[in-house]
Amino acid sequence: MVDMDKIVSLCKRRGFIFQSSEIYGGLGSAWDYGPLGVEFKNNVKRLWWRDNVHLRDDMVGLDAAITMHPKVWEASGHLASFSDPFTGCADCGRHYRADQIIDAIWNSRWFRAFNKMLEGPAAKKDIQKAVENWIQGEGKKLAPNFPQSILSGNIRLPLEGANDPRFIELLRVLAHSSNGNVMGFLCPNCGSGKLSDPKPASLMLETFLGPVKETATKTYLRPETAQGTFVNFDNVLQSMRKKLPFGIAQIGKSFRNEITPGNFTFRTREFEQMEIEFFVVPGTDEEWHQRWIDERFAWYEKYGIRKENIRLREHEKDELAHYAKRCVDIEYLFPMGWSELEGIANRTDYDLKQHSQYSGKALEYFDEETKQKLVPYVIEPAAGADRSALAFLVDAYHEEEVRGEKRVVLKLHRDLAPVKIAVLPLLKKNDRIVETAKKLCADLRKRWYAVYDDTASIGRLYRRQDEVGTPFCVTVDVQTVGDDKSPADEKVTIRDRDTMEQVRVSMASLESIMDELMAGKWAEVAQVHGIKKD
Ligand code: GAP
Repeated sequence: MVDMDKIVSLCKRRGFIFQSSEIYGGLGSAWDYGPLGVEFKNNVKRLWWRDNVHLRDDMVGLDAAITMHPKVWEASGHLASFSDPFTGCADCGRHYRADQIIDAIWNSRWFRAFNKMLEGPAAKKDIQKAVENWIQGEGKKLAPNFPQSILSGNIRLPLEGANDPRFIELLRVLAHSSNGNVMGFLCPNCGSGKLSDPKPASLMLETFLGPVKETATKTYLRPETAQGTFVNFDNVLQSMRKKLPFGIAQIGKSFRNEITPGNFTFRTREFEQMEIEFFVVPGTDEEWHQRWIDERFAWYEKYGIRKENIRLREHEKDELAHYAKRCVDIEYLFPMGWSELEGIANRTDYDLKQHSQYSGKALEYFDEETKQKLVPYVIEPAAGADRSALAFLVDAYHEEEVRGEKRVVLKLHRDLAPVKIAVLPLLKKNDRIVETAKKLCADLRKRWYAVYDDTASIGRLYRRQDEVGTPFCVTVDVQTVGDDKSPADEKVTIRDRDTMEQVRVSMASLESIMDELMAGKWAEVAQVHGIKKD
């Protein structure tokens, strides 16, 4: 599995994702999509929309506002219970999700270094001395408050996750190293033992609508797109004349005041969701739920996520949200471990009933067959555009050795790749080659996002396109345009990113061949035209 640092570095180097407000020191909880990143993320959203809205006759779209009437959040239950438990360090002031503290310690820089030291030969010889040396040396830098914790032997009661086998191991390691002074939880940042007891922290981001704060309407930036769909249920029903079962899809920004944003774009305070609220007749909900779980799982595989990196996880009864009858997560094996990519919940009739009660407007469906009104159940496949994009990136990242050199290649599905075709001139000093290549690029651009590049040698240009996942490069050379010795053959070379195979085809047939290639038929094209030998 690739390291997240490599993904972050490639994203910055190649114009996919930049740190927000970087010139001011950056904001850890927000990221900006660069020129290639915006193309890539747009492709993720466009494919989701095409497959879930345009290719189905039981789905319509919606784009609701981010700010909503404050009562929406009372009715939905967000104001009362949309919170995470947090704990704070009295020494360095950092905050953590109390339910994720073990992960945070386990993955912290100081704990990894400390553990490494404990496994080393010095600790095997004299543990006490090795720990003391570490505290005076590496530990001073990585965990400045760790020595204090050791000396005071600050004993904390377990917060959450005390049954986690890593917790037991953590205690064992610390007890061993501190001569019996057992400590439970240490600050993942500074090593201090002074972590506060867990308290709930609301994830809602407040905002004020109006010029004077004192008299302005206090509301919230939506933490999910779903509520915009529920409050528009009747509008959509009446205007579109839909019959159950049918769904409403939305893509849009959501905001959560996350306690610990991190892992690159995995958890941020501002992110984009791709959510479906699928309304069904009560009693058919369980069957529809399973259909959506299967459908959404297959979607990720369709666009290249490898089978071994994706799995389903059923929520335990005690972790179900207050509105859910059943919930299944699609998880992806991110560099930091298995984590949620999408949640698919059976929300029952909770939301429509709540909004009916709070707004006084009945949100019901008239069933023509039974001639009775009913409140539909809702199946909700809720995905994240940023998280999906991150999973696709991580899964596509490959390092290979080609002729003794490292090749980094993003094997993105061609529909996801930000650039579909790169047109490259073999010699940038040959005017005819350059002119032909630029014209070819302009023609191809009418159908696919194509770029022209002549800023390096052909070998480097290929590597650059490999690194950003461009599925096909088209090269124009001397033979294409001819010279004093031989006439133009009006053929170009197409190179396939994954196999690095090349075929030579006539420019006149390039568009129809590209049609085949964009449909995934490299092998067929290669068979007809023959693989070009170097
Ligand atoms: N309406 C249901 C709902 O919002 P959720 O599981 O909280 O459910 C759905 O969110 C998806 O939104 C997640 O699976 C994830 O992909 C994305 N998501 C949630 N919080 C996020 C965050 N802080 N940063 C990035 N993506 C997030």
